[in-house]
Amino acid sequence: HEPLKVALLGAGSVGSQVARLLLEGRDELAHRVGAELELIGIAVRNVDAKRDVDLPSELFTTDAESLIARADLVVELIGGIEPARTRIRTALERGADVVTANKALIATHGPELFAIAQERGAQLNYEAAVAGAIPIIRPLRDSLAGDQVTRILGIVNGTTNFILDRMHERGDSPAEALRIATELGYAEADPTADIEGFDAQQKAAILASIAFHTTVPVDSVYREGITAVTSEQIKAATRAGYVVKLLAICEKVQNEAGEAAVSARVHPALVPAAHPLAAVHGGNNAVFIESMAAGDLMFYGAGAGGVETASAVLGDLVSAARRQVAGGPGLAASRHAELPVLPIGEVHTRY
Ligand code: HSE
Repeated sequence: HEPLKVALLGAGSVGSQVARLLLEGRDELAHRVGAELELIGIAVRNVDAKRDVDLPSELFTTDAESLIARADLVVELIGGIEPARTRIRTALERGADVVTANKALIATHGPELFAIAQERGAQLNYEAAVAGAIPIIRPLRDSLAGDQVTRILGIVNGTTNFILDRMHERGDSPAEALRIATELGYAEADPTADIEGFDAQQKAAILASIAFHTTVPVDSVYREGITAVTSEQIKAATRAGYVVKLLAICEKVQNEAGEAAVSARVHPALVPAAHPLAAVHGGNNAVFIESMAAGDLMFYGAGAGGVETASAVLGDLVSAARRQVAGGPGLAASRHAELPVLPIGEVHTRY
């Protein structure tokens, strides 16, 4: 199969690791996909900016549009709404498959982008948008597609989990714990998004939408961050046998008319010390799912970090690339349709 052309948009902590893994894993990935994944360029705002990883300078460009115009697969790791939204739209409209880690964009403009993808027969994969490295989008959407999810309890923000954990375990002040979380690379560029619960609110909207097969707007998710949690409250919780966690809680409830409805909220909550979520320490994330047939499931691991999140991005990329190779919708597949080969016996018997 012809090499598949991959355009990378953004080279921050996740983007630069995706580029490294693509270059270093070239041969192995080619085997897994059945075609080479050729990184044709990395679009950035400033070509000379300092990066986490040393990458070939000839890959960098400021011209995202012309990169997208040549790509079979586009990886968007710019973050934020614009220009990410326009770039993804352009890529999907061309029929290219798109992989993104952009929770803000998926949470606010998901339906619009999924509609374009469907119309064009393209994939829009976003496993890395919620809980970093942890496989949670696909399990919820695919593995549990035949079940009824009743409730999700998620620790989906590493920064706040790190802060609360340090307050519990070491008696750190919230400010000191945030400083360390930022140094470790967990926090957003503006940590207000973490500590005020905006980051978890977007992730809750995405999880609730998938789990309950609906569209949950971000602003219908109740949000309360951790800034009002005091060291005294933490001590009192410990004495009573609880751990304070910032939880994203998404559940199926009944409205006043007795009809089924979805409720989603993010706030500090008292988790019993014996619950599996109480054992989620440091900057880790975990998503606890309660469902009718499968019962309780928990997905646990690194919810933030460049190389960890890059793992989820690569998984999405390989999955989309395999589909292109297998002849599903996708630019490369439609360009390289092959004629069938007759079985040997038939070739012999007719001329
Ligand atoms: N700032 C986020 C967190 C990064 O702390 O979890 C991953 O979205």
